[in-house]
Parts: sequence; structure tokens; C-alpha cells
Amino acid sequence: MRRLAAGNWKMNGDGAALAEIEALARARPEPGVDVWIAPPATLIHRAAQLAGPVVVGGQDAHPEPSGAHTGDVSAPMLREAGARFVILGHSERRQDHEEDDALVRAKARAAIEAGLVALVCVGEAEAERRAGGTLGVVGRQLAGSVPDGATAGTLVVAYEPVWAIGTGRTPTLDQIREVHAHLRERLVARFGEEGRGVRLLYGGSVKPDNAAAIFAVAEVNGALVGGASLQAAEFGAIVEALERA
Ligand code: PGA
Repeated sequence: MRRLAAGNWKMNGDGAALAEIEALARARPEPGVDVWIAPPATLIHRAAQLAGPVVVGGQDAHPEPSGAHTGDVSAPMLREAGARFVILGHSERRQDHEEDDALVRAKARAAIEAGLVALVCVGEAEAERRAGGTLGVVGRQLAGSVPDGATAGTLVVAYEPVWAIGTGRTPTLDQIREVHAHLRERLVARFGEEGRGVRLLYGGSVKPDNAAAIFAVAEVNGALVGGASLQAAEFGAIVEALERA
């Protein structure tokens, strides 16, 4: 399976930041892993023109293809703008917009129908981990957020512990191993052999200095990177660590 480094710019980046994508593409004309960037929706079209081998995606998509939904963007619209994947069910959307598993699943179904890869996020809150509920939470989110019929080519899953996002804190390597093994087992139970090919990313405070250790963990097939994806040099160092893993 080809490994994947995906960057999530969140609500960061203006036109000048497109230079970071250009720099990333220039530094790695033929990357040894897949390199994806999800800039804000306003930059997708321009980013897709200059991204070269870097694949551009969205950070959310409405479940309907069009209609009276002020402020929303649909999966076919993202696709037309040049997106090839979309992040769905990120914990910031689950929190800020009260998105539940059923909504994330509907969005993922719509994304796949529109020809996008659905990058579905799961992850426990700190209190849930303290209460010993991590595997139950991520298992439920996975079951509820991933649509039937998803394949290795249309689905990527990111494990992102909520308490590790933007905090500089990460789980231990054993904790990551335990969750990724569980997610793989659940995917294979549901999708059979196809579930073995679905890429599992770790996300939450991945930086150049911890990336190699995380990438050595079994069933970690790459990373979803927030803050450290904004600068080409920093994200490039993570891509390089993944190429060497
Ligand atoms: P972070 O964000 O790398 O800044 O912790 C990860 C994410 O939210 O995808």
C-alpha cells in the first residue's frame, strides 16, 4: 500500500500561502509517498493548478449535491474546483458544528459518489481515554461514519485523539499501535480483504521530530498533519520521514 502524508490547513492560509504548495511540489517532483494538502475552500481551485504531484482536497462537504444551504459547499463543487479528496468528521467539525456519525456518513457517501476520496476522522476526547473508553469510541465512530461500499480506493481513515490536536501532546507509541490495530480489525471485519488496503493515518501534533517514530508503528500508513503542514519545509521533513519509513 502506498503511504500518505496529508496536510490540513484548517482556516489558515491566503493567496500567498500557495507558494508553500509550489515549494513542496518543486522539492518533490516524484514523491515516494502520496502527498495531499487540504487548503481552505477558497484556495482549492488555484492550488490545484500549481500543485504538480501534490493532491489537493477539501476540509468538508455537504451531503447534498446542490440546494438551499447557504454557506455550504458540495462534493461535486469541490471536485470541479480540482479537489480529489475531502476531510470529513474532523473533531473540530464534530465539536463546532455538532456533526454526528450519521451526518459524517452521509457526507462520505456523497463525497465518494462525486469521485472524491473520503478521509474520515475518528478520535477520543481526553475524558473518554481516561475512562478507558478509547477503543469503544473510535470503533463506534468508525462504524457510524463510514458508508457501506467504501473501498481502499475511496476511503482513508485518520485516528486523531482530540486531546492531541494542536496541543503538542501525542499518545504513546503503544497507544497508537493499540488503536490502529483495532481500527484495522474493525475494517477487515466489515469490508473483508478490501479493509486491509484502507490507509490508516495517525493525526495530532505530528512534527518532523516525532514523525519517524510514529511511522514505525504497525498499521500506521501515514499522517494527517495540521500545524506542521503550513510550511513546505516542515511538511517536507515529515514527507521525507514517511518516505524513509
Ligand atoms: P495538528 O492537527 O497537527 O496541528 O495537531 C492535526 C489535525 O487536526 O488534523
